[in-house]
Amino acid sequence: MKTVAFIGTGNMGSALARAAAKSGAADRLLLANRTPEKARRLAEELGGEVCDNRIAAAEADVLFFGVKPQMLDAMLAGIRDTLAARTKRVVIVSMVAGKDLQTLETLLDGLPVVRVMPNIPVAAGCGVTLLTASERVTAEEKAYVRTLLAASGAVEELDEHLLDAATGVTGCGPAYAAMFVEALADGAVACGLPRKDALAYSARMLMGTAQMLLETGEHPGALKDRVCSPAGSTIQGVRTLERRGFRAAVMDAVIASWEKEF
Ligand SMILES: NC(=O)c1ccc[n+]([C@@H]2O[C@H](COP(=O)([O-])OP(=O)(O)OC[C@H]3O[C@@H](n4cnc5c(N)ncnc54)[C@H](OP(=O)(O)O)[C@@H]3O)[C@@H](O)[C@H]2O)c1
Repeated sequence: MKTVAFIGTGNMGSALARAAAKSGAADRLLLANRTPEKARRLAEELGGEVCDNRIAAAEADVLFFGVKPQMLDAMLAGIRDTLAARTKRVVIVSMVAGKDLQTLETLLDGLPVVRVMPNIPVAAGCGVTLLTASERVTAEEKAYVRTLLAASGAVEELDEHLLDAATGVTGCGPAYAAMFVEALADGAVACGLPRKDALAYSARMLMGTAQMLLETGEHPGALKDRVCSPAGSTIQGVRTLERRGFRAAVMDAVIASWEKEF
């Protein structure tokens, strides 16, 4: 019997709680939030139970932290005694940005910690969650956490030292991708396409291209070459993007996000 609990059921906490509920791998789902009404609505939707932070900390086998980084210390102060008094093992899963494994383990007196970094599309079941775990977490526990998150999209395990670089793509990338979709649509609107259609076509094009790249494993440069017919229209668009520094701008955006992480 596994009890899975979430402390903090905001945007990310609720998205991952939905995935956990969908996985069918949690026998009991406990939901705690500073504003209990939010947890209550989610519990009704998912068939979970509302509780306070202490109950979540006392009863969970897997305990997710979904609070903002600046709220972590205050939240932990309220459950530290409860965690210390436990006799049964608990694995902590923190989605709190910027709190590394060592910091979390120190704050939690050596409890096993998994760090996850979801992105916005997890709410639509097609996100990417980066995962890294301390050595105290067993392979079975890691596999269980992956099972809980599977319905949110891909779960990618990586070394913690690469987490910030990967977050520059998976975490920040949706903003860049959304800007790209918006800009494509603006261009099409300028050429006469209705806004609604322009946005839908742009988003579908991006999704389809990404899906194809993932399914075929083709290099993006090779796909670009295949679309560019000699003397065609696409190569003229590519020339325009190159002249405006498109690829360098995107690379700089990822590096700027990565630098901000430190
Ligand atoms: N948003 C993203 O794209 C993203 C991506 C990766 C990681 N993250 C991380 O995910 C975490 C949550 O982010 P979010 O965007 O989901 O924030 P959010 O929507 O503000 O959710 C935070 C939740 O924590 C609750 N809370 C605050 N203090 C609490 C306490 N002491 N006890 C119980 N609940 C408490 C808040 O309750 P109230 O209802 O009272 O406000 C709120 O529902 C953050 O640490 C963030 O770094 C976010």
